[in-house]
Parts: sequence; structure tokens; C-alpha cells
Amino acid sequence: MNEKLEKKFADCRREFPHTENTVYFNSASYGPFSITVKKAIEDNINLRLAADIDDTLYAFTVAEELRSDYAALVGADKQDIGLGLNTSFGLNVMAFGLPLPRGSEILVSDIEFPAIIYTWRAAAERFGYELKFVPAKDMSFDIETFKKAITGKTKVLAVSYVQFFNGYKNDLATLSQICRENDILLVVDGIQGMGTEPVDVRQLGLDVFTSGCQKWMLAPQGCGFFYLDPELRRKIQPPFMSWLGVDWQMNFTSLFKFDNPCFDSTRKFELGYYVVLNLAGMKAAVRYFQHLGIENIQRHNHRLIDRLAEYIKSNRRYKITSSMTPLHRSSIFTFTCDNYKELHQEIVKRKIILALREGSLRVSVHFFNNDDDIDKLLEVLDDFSKR
Ligand SMILES: Cc1ncc(COP(=O)(O)O)c(C=O)c1O
Repeated sequence: MNEKLEKKFADCRREFPHTENTVYFNSASYGPFSITVKKAIEDNINLRLAADIDDTLYAFTVAEELRSDYAALVGADKQDIGLGLNTSFGLNVMAFGLPLPRGSEILVSDIEFPAIIYTWRAAAERFGYELKFVPAKDMSFDIETFKKAITGKTKVLAVSYVQFFNGYKNDLATLSQICRENDILLVVDGIQGMGTEPVDVRQLGLDVFTSGCQKWMLAPQGCGFFYLDPELRRKIQPPFMSWLGVDWQMNFTSLFKFDNPCFDSTRKFELGYYVVLNLAGMKAAVRYFQHLGIENIQRHNHRLIDRLAEYIKSNRRYKITSSMTPLHRSSIFTFTCDNYKELHQEIVKRKIILALREGSLRVSVHFFNNDDDIDKLLEVLDDFSKR
């Protein structure tokens, strides 16, 4: 990384007050707030406290900007992006809005995060689909097994971009090609890759890409966005409808109009007034990704992870449990050891925050982390292994 870029990362780190006394490796659970996010939320609270102007339309302006911001980050058109409350929102629009024939098969991984499973299971029960689990191989979604599971009735593959517990990044390009060859819609839960692993929804030919912004996107819980392929969008019937799903041309002075047209955009699936404080937080947080660039963030995070991985490989007490191949690695790195729960307690005692998932310690590395953070973790690991 060149000096100018390094300075940008260091400057951004300074906006995260926690970095002064905590090492935070837990963005895969919930991203920390920056002072910029805090200020944006506070500014809106102050505006409402003063209540000396009519700011009813403020949220609409921010929402409009955010659709463009997220569109640019994932290679979409603005009209193909909607704002939701979380990852599940986009999954639900698709699962409950797209009419599929009874008996359609929905394929999911048997080691998938529950958001996909519960949403599609409920849709399957309601509409008479069959939810079919594709067995994982070596704790990851296996393309050959997936191909074998496809039948003439398979209509949807719903899969995570990055697996939550070991950071395995699915090969969306290959999955998309197989889906297209078999007339299968590809629905991607993007939350564990969004903001750290580049994605281009159009180039990849994804049908749905949905992501909460509460983790790697560093916004409050209760924020998200979703992309719908425009051709697919026209086939989806809104599973819930709001008066703000139709186009008022921003004129809210004569409201007895009951024949306004629905937006011809993904916005039609949004639901009523926005969670305005969260939009303020999202807007402040999205600027980091525009400023640093997701490819640079990925490079930064992977370099820090490489240092950690090198140490783990050199110490026989520890074992890496995530994939390190360029195609499948992500900003989530996992490893384990015999007494991993005890090790976790020791790490937390030293003010290093990371999660335990499925028998491993999960280290989520983000742009505000630096070499000092890695050094501190390595020190605990080294001390612990000598006990
Ligand atoms: C892969 C994945 N999907 C979804 C979620 C959360 O879903 P939602 O944003 O709908 O709460 C998580 C973590 O909380 C996750 O790891």
C-alpha cells in the first residue's frame, strides 16, 4: 500500500474511539460506531429537538443518496436498490413476493446462517415449495454436490456470499453460471462480505443481493439494503405494500389520490417512513467505503490476516479452520486449539473482542484494525501456548 493510502487508513482509524483502549475483531457480529456516525445521529436528534423547521422530507433525501451510494458499491443501478431493515428484508421480498409453481425446489446449504433457512422454510410451507439442503463438504458449500442436487424442479439457490462461522467466500461467478445454465435464480445473503470483499452484482449476474449494514458496513442495527435484478423485480408482487411504494412526485399536499402508480424501481418494496436516525448513521458510515475503496479494504484486511495466519501455522498448538485460498478467503479468519474456550476468555480479559463460532475463534479484521492490533493478539496467543 502506498503512503497516501496508509495515511487514509490511519486517519479513518482515529475516528473510532474504541481503538484507543480496545482491539475490536468482531465486525462479523456487530460493527463499532465511529464518531462520525455518532455525530450524524446526534445532529438529527438535535434537529428534531429544535423542531424549528419542517424536516419531514430529510429522510427522503438521505434515502435517495444512499440508494446511489450502495448501487455504486455493488455495481448496480440506483433504481435496482431498495433500503430495508436488515438482510432478512430483501430475502423476504423475494421469498414471499415471487410466484413460483407449487413443488418448486429451493436449494440451501446445510451449514447456512439461519436467516436464509427460516425465511425460505416459511415461504416453502406457505406456497408448497420444497426446501432442500445441499450437504456441505469440509465445512463449505460444495459446487459438485450442488450440481448433483439440481433437478428439473429447482428454481432457487439461496446462499451466503461469505459463511458467517469460518469466512468461506463462495465462488459466486461459478455458482451464477451454473444457475443460469439451469434456469435457477441466485439469491445471495451478502452481509458477511459487504464492505470488505468486492462484489459486482451485474457482472456476476446475481438475481438478489441483500445485506444488513450493521456489521462490516458499520451502521446501527436495523439498517440494510437489497438489490433486485430488474427483470426479476418486475415479476415480484410486493409481499407487503405501503403508501410510500407509489410515486407522489414528492408532493404530499393532496393525499386523496388512490391511483398513484407504484415506483418502477426496487423502492416500491420499501415500507413506509424510514428509520431516520439509522439513515443518518448509514450515510455517515458509507463514506468510509467510498473514501477507502472496498478493494483497498480487502487488501488491508488480508495483509493483517496473513500475519496472524503465519503465526498460527508456526505454532503446533493452533490450527487454522478457514480457507486461505485467494478465491475463498475473506476478512473473517478462524482458528482453534484444544482449550479454545479458555483461550477466548484470556483474549477477552486483555480487551480484545472476538467471537466464538462453531468450535473456533473468529477474528474479523476491518479497516480500522492495524498491525498493533495483530501484535496484541499474537502476544496473547504466544503466552497462552507456553502455559
Ligand atoms: C450470513 C448472515 N446472514 C444474516 C445475518 C443477520 O441477518 P439480519 O441482518 O436479517 O438480522 C447474519 C448475522 O447476524 C449473518 O451472519
